[in-house]
Amino acid sequence: MADLSTDFTGIHFENPFMLASAPPTESDANIMRAFDAGWGGVVTKTIGLHPVMNVKGPKTKFFRTDDQGTRISMAKRPSSTLLASWNWELISDKPLDWWIGKLARIKKAHPRKVLVASIMAGSGNDKELHNWQTLTKAMQDEGVDGLELNFSCPHMDRVDMGSNVGKDKVLCSVVTQAVKEVSRIPVWVKLTPATSNIVEEAEACFRGGADAVVSSNTFPSLPVIDPETLDFEMNVEGYVSSGGLGGPAILPLSLAKMAQMTKAFPDKAFSGIGGISTFEHALSYFLLGCGTAQVCTAAMLDSAIGPNVIKTLLRGMTEFLEKNAHRGWTRLEDFRGLRRDRVVSHSQIKRPESVDYHGGYTEEHEGYARPVAV
Ligand SMILES: Cc1cc2nc3c(=O)[nH]c(=O)nc-3n(C[C@H](O)[C@H](O)[C@H](O)COP(=O)(O)O)c2cc1C
Repeated sequence: MADLSTDFTGIHFENPFMLASAPPTESDANIMRAFDAGWGGVVTKTIGLHPVMNVKGPKTKFFRTDDQGTRISMAKRPSSTLLASWNWELISDKPLDWWIGKLARIKKAHPRKVLVASIMAGSGNDKELHNWQTLTKAMQDEGVDGLELNFSCPHMDRVDMGSNVGKDKVLCSVVTQAVKEVSRIPVWVKLTPATSNIVEEAEACFRGGADAVVSSNTFPSLPVIDPETLDFEMNVEGYVSSGGLGGPAILPLSLAKMAQMTKAFPDKAFSGIGGISTFEHALSYFLLGCGTAQVCTAAMLDSAIGPNVIKTLLRGMTEFLEKNAHRGWTRLEDFRGLRRDRVVSHSQIKRPESVDYHGGYTEEHEGYARPVAV
């Protein structure tokens, strides 16, 4: 019998699918709807102590490609396919006080659903580190199940916040440790993918006591320039700054980051995010060793909280377990991590043995000219 439930960092989940910290989890109304729709858990939109004001105009748009062509544009049009989301939205613009009481009410209404609070503060001095502890205590007093430390927001100018923390091994360790000093609940850390070797930052977080590492947040990127107006497709009075790419385009990029970490720390807990909209996508993360999977872009485009996405994920996992019942698989733990060891260094990939070497190919292959003997 297929059993979708799982345990991750000591928390019991009805199913391993979560809404990621983002617009789908920006309010109590959204989170309640998400739980009713079937999500196993949510990570709240990141909550901070500093006042937040977003840019003028839209905070998120979506890149689409023409079905039969090469045009990549944010223009909404028929016969096009979603490529990615692009956003420059900051953390929650609702103050801490707004969240207090609401989180407790959500948990009371849905005691079996998992509520994780994403939090963020600065890290440049002791006062800022104390802010992390203030947020931690406030969240656990509300009864949330866990914390996710945001070391990954790509839009921060401050050098001691967001992805700038996730790019600094010392800060990763110091902030995690400061939170762990006061936390009685599991602490996850969400890292930025914008570093050269994410294994180093993950190691620093685990050294600081992190119970899990979460990846990926969005990748640094720019909108394209409109060839007619010569303006960026998304701008405010002509100006743009680096934003974050999410959705289908980042699935392979995010898998690569995840594989680096799960191989380096096979016994640690990881939550996978990036480009997930079906069970097949989540399966790649599970087979690399992830114990939960999180979704943002696909849910935003499905009635804001993904009622159809979660149905597809649950159905996909049930069918997968039924199809593989003959292997004795009934739950995620039975297949989690099975392909972790298949990612190896380039030199470990088999070379052809024969003398008639055709650039690695023995037959015509997409993207390459017809082979000729050398
Ligand atoms: C509009 C928008 C706002 C986001 N806000 C946050 C945030 O406040 N905190 C955070 O940790 N991640 C934030 N994210 C990142 C998502 O949680 C997620 O990591 C990313 O979008 C990749 O997942 P996806 O490919 O399913 O979209 C945001 C993403 C988008 C598109």
